[in-house]
Amino acid sequence: MKIFLVAGARPNFMKIAPIIRRMESWNAGASAGEKLLWRLVHTGQHYDYAMSMSFFEDLMIPAPDYFLDAGSGSHAVQTAKIMTSFEKVCLDENPDMVLVVGDVNSTLACSITAKKLNIRVAHVEAGLRSRDMSMPEEINRMVTDAISDLLFVTEKSAIKNLRREGHREEAIVFVGNVMIDTLFFQLEKLKKGDQVQGMGYEVKGKDKDGGDGYAVVTLHRPSNVDDKETLFGIIEALIRISEDMPVIFPAHPRTKKTIEAFGLMGRINASGIEMLPPLPYMLFLQLWKDASLVLTDSGGLQEETTALGVPCFTIRENTERPVTIDEGTNILVGTTKQGILSEYEAFRSGASKKGRVPELWDGKAAERIVDLLIR
Ligand code: UD1
Repeated sequence: MKIFLVAGARPNFMKIAPIIRRMESWNAGASAGEKLLWRLVHTGQHYDYAMSMSFFEDLMIPAPDYFLDAGSGSHAVQTAKIMTSFEKVCLDENPDMVLVVGDVNSTLACSITAKKLNIRVAHVEAGLRSRDMSMPEEINRMVTDAISDLLFVTEKSAIKNLRREGHREEAIVFVGNVMIDTLFFQLEKLKKGDQVQGMGYEVKGKDKDGGDGYAVVTLHRPSNVDDKETLFGIIEALIRISEDMPVIFPAHPRTKKTIEAFGLMGRINASGIEMLPPLPYMLFLQLWKDASLVLTDSGGLQEETTALGVPCFTIRENTERPVTIDEGTNILVGTTKQGILSEYEAFRSGASKKGRVPELWDGKAAERIVDLLIR
């Protein structure tokens, strides 16, 4: 069976890595006829070293077989560029299946392209719903799921969502979370003292036993960083928190651009916020795993903090990953200064949320996916 594995943006790389590892370990013991013929397609949605290549190095992902070089652009332009290039590759190679992960524009573009060529589509991380159609990812998730043949889900809420949308029961498979496979795998490497690429930054002396600890922030959602008033409020809240403990903020390129455009850099530089470029996976893991508090609008980090029991404030009004709230350490704090700070005051007075690791987030999701594909 020939399978295309698609990855395009930063959060895709963590999800594809364990699937490739599992396919390779199967292939090592399989006869020629049983081998899974996989090809990695990198759409090029993310292209900066820090957003793409550094992840290939840290996560030991082999060089892609195809690089589509889509780059940035409006949603239509980016999606169209990926579709046009991906169609050529599909026509040349005629795969039996296209496997897409997550909810980025590359996920949508490649699933539509494949399906229109009558190629089967498998979606890893299917069924998550924020019910917020102003989020580009919600549209990507809904469209991809609507046309996928196999729907691999990370949490039970997703099963309910897919059933409600009328998907066939046989198509829905609860496998756990490939992002957490990567987290556990890389954590082991960190424990064994694997070299961490530094990009000029070193995590030093910020152990949480040594005082008030530190907070780690990531922000990149257009609704948070492209709107001046919202971004001002969030930064004001972070500045307040930085009066109590260092706030370390590796900033997405989009976020850095808007912070500069809105003239906020001076306020940040004068505060206890330490702004950094986006960090490679291992360096970032080393940083956030020991943080006293993570504040984020990322999807993946909500899950990762839950898996390691790190308190997490999600700077959004909703989440498509409710298990992180119901069972994990995640709290939705909204996007206003008041909302963030009122939860922060509760946190400071000791009301931190204890969580548990959700079902099947055990480091074996890729194993379940690949075993099912083989069967
Ligand atoms: C994308 C995903 C989002 C995911 C995020 C993770 C979509 C709709 N959004 O958002 O779900 O959480 O990736 O990072 O697919 N840029 C660079 N260098 C890069 C990539 C982007 O400078 O390597 C800048 C460009 O100015 C670009 C902007 O970031 O226009 C946005 O990039 P884009 O890929 O459109 O979306 P993200 O905001 O990264």
